[in-house]
Amino acid sequence: MQQIRIVAEVEEYQHFHELPNEEQELVQAAQKVAIAAYAPYSGFFVGAALLLEDGTVVSGSNQENVAFPSGICAERTAMFWAGANYPGKAILKMAIYAQSEDFLVETPVYPCGSCRQVMSEYERIGQRPIRILMVAATGKTHAVNGLINILPVAFDADNLKRQK
Ligand code: THU
Repeated sequence: MQQIRIVAEVEEYQHFHELPNEEQELVQAAQKVAIAAYAPYSGFFVGAALLLEDGTVVSGSNQENVAFPSGICAERTAMFWAGANYPGKAILKMAIYAQSEDFLVETPVYPCGSCRQVMSEYERIGQRPIRILMVAATGKTHAVNGLINILPVAFDADNLKRQK
């Protein structure tokens, strides 16, 4: 038996104002789109903004549904929009911002498992690690360079092939 150690690296900032200007602007785009989320059931408003390789910023918010599982997260709204409208353009960065109508969101919100899996696909086809900025309503921010830090040992295309 051999132990395999998996290490994640996360940057923590007390406020996203500590980030470079380009990233602050991406966070502001995520904040702006979060306000318009359709979240009547959870009262949890999430915005995601993507910076594409050609400089385009694409954003999306969570869209809920009375049949709860039919709703979708902000991250997938933004990624699928980018995939549909800017096919082949790699995602360089993603900012995720969350606020609630019921409480102050103090902890940066990490993407759910389904969104991480979708990110994994786009990161693979983009052939570049996606830098992910997770921002609480207080401004507290966590950042990672590459999905490997939040979805290590992912199921990916290689798993569909014979290994040897
Ligand atoms: N949500 C997101 O949009 N992104 C996340 O990273 C976490 C959760 C949404 C889904 C649902 O509309 C609401 O937040 C509560 O789970």
